[in-house]
Amino acid sequence: MDKPENSSEPPPPPDRLIFTVNGERFEVPEVDPSTTLLEFLRTNTPFKSPKLGCGEGGCGACVVLLSKRNPNPNPSLNEIEHFTVSSCLTLLCSINNCSITTSEGLGSSKDGIFHPIHERFSGFHASQCGFCTPGMCMSLFSAIINSENDSNRPSKSGFSKLTVSEAEKSVSGNLCRCTGYRPIADACKSFASDVDLEDLGVNSFWRKKRDSIEKVNLSRLLPHYNPKDHASSILKDGCNFASGLLNSEKHSWYTPLTIEDLRMLLSQRSDRTVEKTGNRIKLVVGNTANGYYKETEKYDKYIDLRYIPELSVVKKNSSGIEFGAAISISKVISYLKQQNCESDLICSKIANHLEKIGSEFVRNSASIGGNLVMAQRKYFPSDITTLLLAVDSTVTILTGQHPHKHEKITIEEFLQKPHMGPTNVLLNVHIPFIGQTKNKANNLNSRLTFESYRASPRPLGNALPYLNAAFLSDISETEKNGVLVNYINLAFGAYGTKRAKRASRVEEYLCGKILSVAVLNEAVELVKSDVVSDEGTSYGAYRSSLAVGFLFQFLNTFLGDLSDYFKKSLLLEGSDRTKNIEMLSSAKQVMESSRDFYPVGEPMKKIAASIQASGEAVYVDDIPSPPNCLYGAFIYSTKPSARVNNISFNSNTPTAVISSKDIPEKGENIGSTTIFASEPLFSPDFSRCAGDRIAFVVAETQKRANVAAKTAVLDYDTQDLDPPILTVEEAVERSSFFEVPPFLTPSNVGDFDRGMIESDHKIVNSEIKLGSQYYFYLENQTALAIPDEDNTIAVYSSIQNPEYAQIVIARCLGIPEHNVRVITRRVGGGFGGKAMKAIPVAAACALAAHKLHRPVRTYLDRKTDMILAGGRHPMKITYTVGFKSNGKITALHLNILIDAGVTEDSSILIPHNIISSLKKYDFGALSFDLKLCKTNRTSKSAMRGPGEVQGSYIAEAIIENIASHLLIKSDDVRTVNLHKYETLKIFYGSASEECVDYTLPFIWDRVAESSSYFSRVCLVEGFNKSNIWIKRGISRVPIVHELILRPAAGKVSVLWDGSIVVEVGGIELGQGLWTKVKQVAAYALGSIKCGEVFDKIRVVQADTLSLVQGGLTAASTTSESSCEAIRICCNLLVERLAPLREKLEEEIGIPVNWETLILQAHFRNINLGVNSYFVPDSSSSRYLNYGAAVSEVEVNILTGETRILRTDIVYDCGQSMNPAVDLGQIEGAFVQGLGFFMQEEYLTNAEGLVVTDSTWNYKIPTIDTIPKQFNVEVLNSGHHRNRILSSKASGEPPLLLAASVHCATRAAIGAAREQMKSWGAVEGVDSSFHLDVPATMPVVKQLCGLNVVETYLQSLIALEP
Ligand SMILES: Cc1cc2nc3c(=O)[nH]c(=O)nc-3n(C[C@H](O)[C@H](O)[C@H](O)COP(=O)(O)OP(=O)(O)OC[C@H]3O[C@@H](n4cnc5c(N)ncnc54)[C@H](O)[C@@H]3O)c2cc1C
Ligand code: FES
Ligand code: FES
Repeated sequence: MDKPENSSEPPPPPDRLIFTVNGERFEVPEVDPSTTLLEFLRTNTPFKSPKLGCGEGGCGACVVLLSKRNPNPNPSLNEIEHFTVSSCLTLLCSINNCSITTSEGLGSSKDGIFHPIHERFSGFHASQCGFCTPGMCMSLFSAIINSENDSNRPSKSGFSKLTVSEAEKSVSGNLCRCTGYRPIADACKSFASDVDLEDLGVNSFWRKKRDSIEKVNLSRLLPHYNPKDHASSILKDGCNFASGLLNSEKHSWYTPLTIEDLRMLLSQRSDRTVEKTGNRIKLVVGNTANGYYKETEKYDKYIDLRYIPELSVVKKNSSGIEFGAAISISKVISYLKQQNCESDLICSKIANHLEKIGSEFVRNSASIGGNLVMAQRKYFPSDITTLLLAVDSTVTILTGQHPHKHEKITIEEFLQKPHMGPTNVLLNVHIPFIGQTKNKANNLNSRLTFESYRASPRPLGNALPYLNAAFLSDISETEKNGVLVNYINLAFGAYGTKRAKRASRVEEYLCGKILSVAVLNEAVELVKSDVVSDEGTSYGAYRSSLAVGFLFQFLNTFLGDLSDYFKKSLLLEGSDRTKNIEMLSSAKQVMESSRDFYPVGEPMKKIAASIQASGEAVYVDDIPSPPNCLYGAFIYSTKPSARVNNISFNSNTPTAVISSKDIPEKGENIGSTTIFASEPLFSPDFSRCAGDRIAFVVAETQKRANVAAKTAVLDYDTQDLDPPILTVEEAVERSSFFEVPPFLTPSNVGDFDRGMIESDHKIVNSEIKLGSQYYFYLENQTALAIPDEDNTIAVYSSIQNPEYAQIVIARCLGIPEHNVRVITRRVGGGFGGKAMKAIPVAAACALAAHKLHRPVRTYLDRKTDMILAGGRHPMKITYTVGFKSNGKITALHLNILIDAGVTEDSSILIPHNIISSLKKYDFGALSFDLKLCKTNRTSKSAMRGPGEVQGSYIAEAIIENIASHLLIKSDDVRTVNLHKYETLKIFYGSASEECVDYTLPFIWDRVAESSSYFSRVCLVEGFNKSNIWIKRGISRVPIVHELILRPAAGKVSVLWDGSIVVEVGGIELGQGLWTKVKQVAAYALGSIKCGEVFDKIRVVQADTLSLVQGGLTAASTTSESSCEAIRICCNLLVERLAPLREKLEEEIGIPVNWETLILQAHFRNINLGVNSYFVPDSSSSRYLNYGAAVSEVEVNILTGETRILRTDIVYDCGQSMNPAVDLGQIEGAFVQGLGFFMQEEYLTNAEGLVVTDSTWNYKIPTIDTIPKQFNVEVLNSGHHRNRILSSKASGEPPLLLAASVHCATRAAIGAAREQMKSWGAVEGVDSSFHLDVPATMPVVKQLCGLNVVETYLQSLIALEP
């Protein structure tokens, strides 16, 4: 692969796009130049492992490896470079002459050999739904091969040259919504040369007796890695094309090789031509800007700038370094890191900062020039402009109007210029060597310092900053007076102004000053007036406070010669969290398998994990489109409560616009249904809420359908209509409620009035508000409908309840249910969002297919998905609580207003769920008034732990409030209010089962012990006393979660060769349902004692015509019920087969094996197909489950950033059916809970339209935001009489435990407020504050004091003599 050859092959025509994918050659004579690599791979090749998760560069699901011959070979570099790119942004024409490798290219089941990366992801249980896994594998693979190419790194047999930290960071830009990342980190770390394999978590390679296995053996147990077979050498040759650049009228794609060529191309276009002919030109490098701007407009000419040497070279001379504008950010980073010059420090600090831009796979194609042009032209919140501004960089521009004019201007002038026209080209960026120009003091004592800062929702994983800053200064230490500022540059950006700017007034003020508290104080005041966000920017005051914090932090570094007192007071140890970002540092898993029902209880790896990793697992959108297939996209409204008079299209008219008017005569406008209510598929004439489904456009490609939907213009009219109901308060005012049926209405406990009389203290009418959360499954909503003969239809749907989709589609089309077959193989993440909300997606495709007699499919784009999804229920809670002086609660009353949105969906269940999980404490007496408000917002649906997460949190918020009120520890209040078994029974009735099943008291102590909770409480107190700017908090939180077993269907069939087919109603969502079902089937069939049957079992997709009554996969218990249904089937089979086995053994005198038994059974006409329907006994179908978590966090009170230092969880799984699967559920749910409590803001505008509608503004946790130490014990609490094989559910309850992080954060904030009080502050220091959910950086900072620096400085001034 390293040598260019194939000289015998004739050069391809220059107008033909040519490249390889996994070694397979593709020649494309003509293509729309806006086609992305991902579109091409998914529609024109068999390689489906790159997935569409966002289309924005924000998730990593589409990551592939690009190998290309370096156009400007530098002898010191390898000729062929390999790097990851997001294929959703990479334009197909830009990969001409390149070679692409997808996860399938590393190895596959078809090749008969998986790559060790695939095997380790699978063996470390690092793939659940699997949708993120191929992208993760490619990110890791790229890191591995690039480390192998570094000859300076030592090699170690069996390992790559990566370090542990690099291995973890390699996936920091990839999102996973299922696993919680810990197992992914372990899979990556297993390749690192410095890993201690003993530290790696649960896996299927050395799962037993690991303590006794020698370390040296552990590496032998791993699927073997060696660079020769598994690094770049396995890449299929693809870069050996004779050179030939794509320069093609046909593709409208041009690759000029010189500035002159470029100028010629540009001069063919003038603004007048544009007006007359519509000739539009797009300059392009990495095309990553499209991830942000998502342009839909068409261009006539694409000009690829990467092949012009002036734009692609780095020049270094005595004055500085010049980077060609088309150089990728990754290359700039690696170049700056290699520098060994005076400005060494500045170079490496700029490089460190650049490493926080986007993610590796974005930086690899994103150019430095593209970034600057975005900032200049469209006010993109760039990090690069701020850095360049601080170091007085210059840029050179080629102006199209004056062909020969190269304009060299400062970055400041560049930013202030009128927007660059489309024919202006940025040629290069010059970073001066500062030491030579700026060391003005000309003084030996003088010191040049450069620092940069960045506050963003995630330290590493792809998040734009709230504010960034870069400071350059030259200071001298004077003998007597202290530190003199000779020179200072202060640049700030991305804080909601159009451009990065210098804080010139502060610079002027500081220049020539000797630093002192008073000077700092004045500088801080000035920076607040210099760094002000534009009106309408979110968190404006927060962003200004960040500027203050960073400036303070920077200036502090010079205060070495000040008095001891001052030095100590300004202790900032460890306060800059962005400098050294530690990833997961350690994790411990404790689990004890049971062998009572072997192989049930074994921590087996998840079925299909390896093919998920290699990308061969088939999701709905991976099914090849049938001939004639059409594609659909929803048109949704953006206004609540408005008539829709008309829809018009600006772009090409789509093939069809489907709405309720197209429903057949006998059909019904129905989009989804529950046992309580149905909702319409379309609301064509009246938009009930912003995000209502109005119509479904259908076009020849998904892209065209999306563009048509996006550009459709809806004509609204609100005349004489009542205003929409957009808040729960308005719903109350207008009595707009949904009825909750009596059997789902929770009951009060005890006598509230009496409880209040017994109390010593009261808190009256305290208020809590909780917002929504979006599911963020990596696979968006999708379906494919194929009409068949005789009015029948088959629908492939990614759904949690195919049965309901079947009912809805049949009713919608007016056909019998037996005409509708809904098939679901696997779902790329559901979390409740693919229960009800997937039905209209399937129904819309079915209706369109039925009407047009052609297959119709859709794959929603992320934005549409986020707008339509509804998500978790927001609510407002008002409570009154009475309690004793020791914190024991005697009575609690709650008024809860739940925003259900515009239709019932599954909201009817929410009141019950809230109260059920809230009852985890003994409140003495509990009464409540819950209202399910009907509003003009999108209908909310169940999301993992629906209602339960809110209920459990409300209980914690009350406890925290009581503790603050009494000035006692919240942990004491928790402990005193934990249920005794007697009170548990009063609150939960029969669900509390027997006393021995109540494991919470044990768990409560156990988690304290395993986490060393009490000694760490003291350590935290000590830490907080000696650290000013970082505060820590620790918290222990219990959960009690009520679960209900529901009926489930199962079917087991045995074929002639003894292979076994298992069907269950339950859907494999990544939760390992199939794996548990297979284990149970093997256990139950094993009782016939004809040998192991595990490997003969295959669990197959759900098909509503093959297995009826499949039901809904939700509420954590579907695995248990499905297992029981299968156990019943297998027991019946065993009953049928046992007499035959005995007979045969009698006849032949030796034991028969399974194959013989089955063959004989077929010959003797024994029925080898069994169906079952498990209906749980109503007396034992409800049960409680328990867990507890201890979390410790630290909060940076200058920025509001929270880092989770450690979490310890103990969770009762009964006798887990598969502890590895349950562990995955616990960790994954916990991290999803972290998102809810700490990060994810699912916001709407004033009209209720979701505005956090992309990966840019909706931030789920990434690998850098999970606990640094993450310990989980899957508690084996032994035999449970009424539970299925003694096991207990794990899917949802652990999500609630993430409240421990929120409570710990509150404790840390409490410490910060105490400190503020000690500095004399009177406002914002009350101990009974409420911390909102999610506790994002601005929220935390607000409570720690936006003016914390000013207060501190003023306290020092007050102390000065
Ligand atoms: C997921 C993601 C996260 C990101 N995070 C950050 C971040 O945290 N901080 C940050 O600063 N940036 C961030 N970025 C922005 C990123 O740096 C830019 O998208 C990238 O640098 C643009 O380079 P490109 O080569 O892809 O430009 P392209 O997309 O190819 O072009 C961008 C625009 O500039 C024009 N253009 C490109 N080069 C030139 C030139 N030489 N002369 C004239 N016009 C030109 C193009 O016509 C186009 O209009 C992020 C981007 C993504 C996708
Ligand atoms: S789909 Fe490309 S990064 Fe998300
Ligand atoms: S396994 Fe990562 S998103 Fe599902």
